[in-house]
Amino acid sequence: MLGNFVYANPTKLYFGADALNSLNMELSKYGKNVVLVYGGGSIKKNGLYDAVTEILKDNGKNVSEIAGVMPNPTIEKLYEGMEIARNAKVDLILAVGGGSVCDYAKALSVSVNCPEDPWEKYYIKFDEPTCETIPVGCVLTMAGTGSEMNAGAVITNHKAKLKIGHVFADEKIMPRFSILNPNYTMTLPKYQMCAGIYDIFNHICEQYFSGTDDNTSDYISEGLMQSLIHSSRIANANPQDYEARSNIMWTATWALNTLVAKGKSTDWMVHMLGQAVGAVTDATHGMTLAAVSLAYYHYILEAGLPKFVRFAENVWHVDPAGKTDKEIALAGLAAMESWMQELGLAMHLRELGATDDMIEDMVNATLILDGGYRILTKEDIRKILQTSM
Ligand code: NZQ
Ligand code: ZN
Repeated sequence: MLGNFVYANPTKLYFGADALNSLNMELSKYGKNVVLVYGGGSIKKNGLYDAVTEILKDNGKNVSEIAGVMPNPTIEKLYEGMEIARNAKVDLILAVGGGSVCDYAKALSVSVNCPEDPWEKYYIKFDEPTCETIPVGCVLTMAGTGSEMNAGAVITNHKAKLKIGHVFADEKIMPRFSILNPNYTMTLPKYQMCAGIYDIFNHICEQYFSGTDDNTSDYISEGLMQSLIHSSRIANANPQDYEARSNIMWTATWALNTLVAKGKSTDWMVHMLGQAVGAVTDATHGMTLAAVSLAYYHYILEAGLPKFVRFAENVWHVDPAGKTDKEIALAGLAAMESWMQELGLAMHLRELGATDDMIEDMVNATLILDGGYRILTKEDIRKILQTSM
């Protein structure tokens, strides 16, 4: 039965090849002081930096910059940005980049006016902001995280060997607007494109592999997964295919803008394992998920068998004739595995630089959640990570 829920999503999305034209109108809603946040330089190479700074200049904005936001943004980088944003008396934070840049912008939004230490407040105590937050806008350059239309912000603390996500309860933390032009994703290296595709797929899985009720969200999830598998194969063969890249970008947004989680329980243990791997190795997010997924899903398969059977039949079109439920479920995971191999995803943690002596740190960094088909113990987590090596 659908549980009770509230659904509100205030992010205004501009999608398509001309979407950047809308930035003028959006900028008119905010004050003069804009902090422009971006990553390691891809936007300077592909011309987006020039295009955005020109629009900011035409609108008479005072622009300060936070450059060099790294993949898996760190708490130290957040402290640095807080100084810049405070000095700038920021009115709007404009993120131009992938999920790391968008997440960072949201973490900055809730920290600029906050007297407490943001790591302690948001990532250890999971408090909500008690200070005035700053509006965030995004120009997205990579499809994957869904950060463009959600209230999540993941920050890594290398000293503590932790990578933690906070999904803020207040929808005000979601970007006020996001500009999605699939053409901006065309310069992504294939490794990142495929990591993003698997991230999208796993976001859907995390919300699908939980619960036994008949739930509209699961039907939507099956549709999204099929579209993604289809478009990923086209994009893998021809990364410049606009139709495929635009479908992937739109699927990413729907995979994690909270819609398919409404009214149902969700799992998120692959992400908890992946974040622990990321905390220790700093590897690419989507690849950390790929490397642990199959070991995890095989581990919980018996506990969630009816859903794995449904996944095999409805997503991978496994023919059930003459098979036991377990055989159908295993055939579904086998089909998923061969699709992952087609995309060249990391299938083992060693491919991401992990070594056996890192396993204990990863076990300790894994948060244990209770929404999935099995509640894991530390020993279960150790076994899954060992199998993933
Ligand atoms: O830094 P630059 O130079 O821009 O290069 C980036 C980066 O090296 C590059 N890139 C991005 N767009 C590009 C491009 N290169 C060429 N052309 C382009 N158009 O790609 C690399 C990866 O970028 P990043 O932003 O790190 O990737 P992604 O979008 O996968 O974001 C990953 C971060 O998001 C978090 C992850 O944990 C990780 O920290 N997540 C956020 C979530 C959320 N907000 O809900 C949920 C996710 O599960 C995830 O945890
Ligand atoms: Zn993810």
